[in-house]
Amino acid sequence: MRFSERVAIVTGGASGIGLATAKRLGAEGARVVIADIDAAQAATAVDAVKQAGAPDAWASTCNVGEEAQVAATVKGAIEQFRRFDILVNNAGLMVFKPLIELTQADWQRILNVDLLGAFFFTKQAFMHMPKGGAIVNVSSIHAIETEPLVTPYAAAKAALLSLTRSAALEGKPKGIRVNAILPGAIDTPMLWENPNVKSGQEKIDRADVGKPEEIAAVIAFLASDEASFVQGAALRVDGGRLDRL
Ligand SMILES: NC(=O)c1ccc[n+]([C@@H]2O[C@H](COP(=O)([O-])OP(=O)(O)OC[C@H]3O[C@@H](n4cnc5c(N)ncnc54)[C@H](O)[C@@H]3O)[C@@H](O)[C@H]2O)c1
Repeated sequence: MRFSERVAIVTGGASGIGLATAKRLGAEGARVVIADIDAAQAATAVDAVKQAGAPDAWASTCNVGEEAQVAATVKGAIEQFRRFDILVNNAGLMVFKPLIELTQADWQRILNVDLLGAFFFTKQAFMHMPKGGAIVNVSSIHAIETEPLVTPYAAAKAALLSLTRSAALEGKPKGIRVNAILPGAIDTPMLWENPNVKSGQEKIDRADVGKPEEIAAVIAFLASDEASFVQGAALRVDGGRLDRL
């Protein structure tokens, strides 16, 4: 039980990779907070996480792009469970538009959720986590290779790697590790609702599609004490998809 007595907050924990991660951390002993904008899905996720073996779980409705809501979620988590040891910055969304159609509002929405959300939670983590705390940021292979129509998402995910490095530097003296993973194509609603995938513009070989549980396993490793010397790392987890010429 790698996470006994630990309390984990998973953003976007109501679906896909976040839900699989919440279940995995819970199954290994963590009390889990699902921080998600979708209250109904988050409530269902809490049941699933308990069913997976978590000693306890709690849902906090939260738009990660709003700093006050993030602070309220962390306050609630600490009131509820008395600790805050692990943070998984997983909530994310995409907008699909040619560059010339993108608006300031589009950019702000994506940057708020995919980048600033992680910053707001990291700030709270630095204020409340004890030594031994761990933060895992869910970036994307779009941080290093991308395609047309997803400019703000790719930029936000690249900046999230930069945030990971900066936070790792400031986290080290606090005893807090900060790392990132770059998932490839993962079998979640986000993948199959992607218009580039639906249209066939982004071709995905079935052999290159991973399961949310395969990402959750890597996140759990990085969040655990087994990764005690892993700091500021960015780990690609894509089944080797980007290796192909
Ligand atoms: N699925 C993939 O192929 C893939 C690949 C690389 C990276 N990722 C990243 O993994 C993460 C999870 O993606 P997923 O595929 O599980 O997606 P998903 O759509 O299944 O789940 C995303 C969750 O985030 C929540 N969310 C969205 N906006 C939010 C907000 N403002 N505040 C709080 N919660 C919010 C949603 O309600 C949902 O529960 C994202 O950051 C995504 O960019 C996914």
